[in-house]
Amino acid sequence: MNAGKMILVTGGAGYIGSHTSRRLVEAGYKLVVLDNLYSGHRWAVADEAVFVEGSAGDEAIVDQLIKQYDVSAVVHFAGHIVVPESVENPLKYYRNNCLVSQKLVESCRRNGVGNFLFSSSAAVYGLPDVIPVPENAPTRPINPYGATKLITEWLLRDVAQSTAADTVPFRYTALRYFNVAGAAIDGRLGQATPEATHLIKVACEAATGKRDGIRIFGTDYDTPDGTCIRDYIHVEDLAEAHVVVLDSLLAGGESGIYNCGYGSGYSVREVVDMVRQVSGVNFRSEEAPRRAGDARALIADSGLLQSQLGWRPRYNELELICRTAYDWEKGDNPVI
Ligand code: UFG
Repeated sequence: MNAGKMILVTGGAGYIGSHTSRRLVEAGYKLVVLDNLYSGHRWAVADEAVFVEGSAGDEAIVDQLIKQYDVSAVVHFAGHIVVPESVENPLKYYRNNCLVSQKLVESCRRNGVGNFLFSSSAAVYGLPDVIPVPENAPTRPINPYGATKLITEWLLRDVAQSTAADTVPFRYTALRYFNVAGAAIDGRLGQATPEATHLIKVACEAATGKRDGIRIFGTDYDTPDGTCIRDYIHVEDLAEAHVVVLDSLLAGGESGIYNCGYGSGYSVREVVDMVRQVSGVNFRSEEAPRRAGDARALIADSGLLQSQLGWRPRYNELELICRTAYDWEKGDNPVI
C-alpha cells in the first residue's frame, strides 16, 4: 500500500541510516538520502536511493528535495551521538541535534509533509528507577546528548499537538534506541564510523589489531560485576522497527514514542568476553575510571512496539551481534 512512496532519509550514509535504508528499499519505499558525510560514507548509501550531499538543516536544499521528489515522510537519523563528546562540547550537540531538527520540521511544515520518524535515544531516561524501563518512565537525561534528544521529542510533540486539526496534521514517531550494534547478516554493511567510541565496535577493533586493547570505563558500579549494563540490539532488527513505524504512520497511524531494545542486558565485561570468544583473540583490556555521562544500567521494555505495531525482532542474541560486528571489522570492507 505504501510501496513507491518517497521518503527523505537524513543521515542515510551513516551506520543505522544505511542499514535502515536498505530495509526500506526492500519494503518498497523510494528514498532520497541527504547526508553531509560527516561520519557517514558515500558507499554505504543504498544503490537505489537518490543521494544528495548536504545538511539536514539546510532549509533551501530540504525544501527543494521535498518538492522535487514529492516526499511523503522524513526519517531523521542525522545527528551527533557520542555521549562523552556531548559532555565536552554541548553546543555542538544543541546545534546539530536540536537546531537542525527544528529547521527540518519547519521545512516539513512549509511543504506539507506530515509524517516524521525521529531517531531518539534511551539516553532520554538518564538513570531510570525501573528496569526494564517503559516509555512512560520519567525522562531525566544526565548528559547533553540525551537532553538534545529529549528537547527534539518535545518539539515534535508540540508541533503535532498544535497541528492536529490542520488539513495536513504533523504526526511523528520517536524511536528510543538502546545500544545498537552488529552488522548486516549478509556482511554487505557494517559500522564504519571513524574514531568510534561504542563498546562493541571498539572491542572488534581491538580483536582485529586496529587498537592495542580496550579500556573498561568504571568497575565500581552497583551491578553484579561492577561494570555498566546495556541492552544491545542488532542493527537489522532496529532497521525493521523503522519499516513497521513508517508503514503505520503512512497508513494514518497516531504519533507515538517507542523503545527499541530487547529487554535483556549485558555488562561491559560480558560484552568484551563475547567479542574475545567470537574472534578467538584474547585482546588486552584495562580497567579505567568511570566515563562522564554513563548510566549504570539501561534496559528497554520494548513490549509496546511489539504489541502496538507488530515489531518482531529476529536477532536477539549477543553472540550473533558480536559475530556480525567482528566479521565486518575483519573483512575486506571499504572502511575509510
Ligand atoms: N565502554 C567501555 N569502553 C569503551 C567503550 C565503552 O567500557 O571503549 C562502556 C561505556 O562506559 C558504557 C558501555 O560501554 O558503560 C556502553 O558504551 P557505548 O559508548 O557503547 O554506548 P552508550 O551506552 O554510551 O550510548 C549508546 C548510544 C546512545 C544511547 C545509549 C543507550 O550511543 O545513543 O547507548 O543505552 F542512548
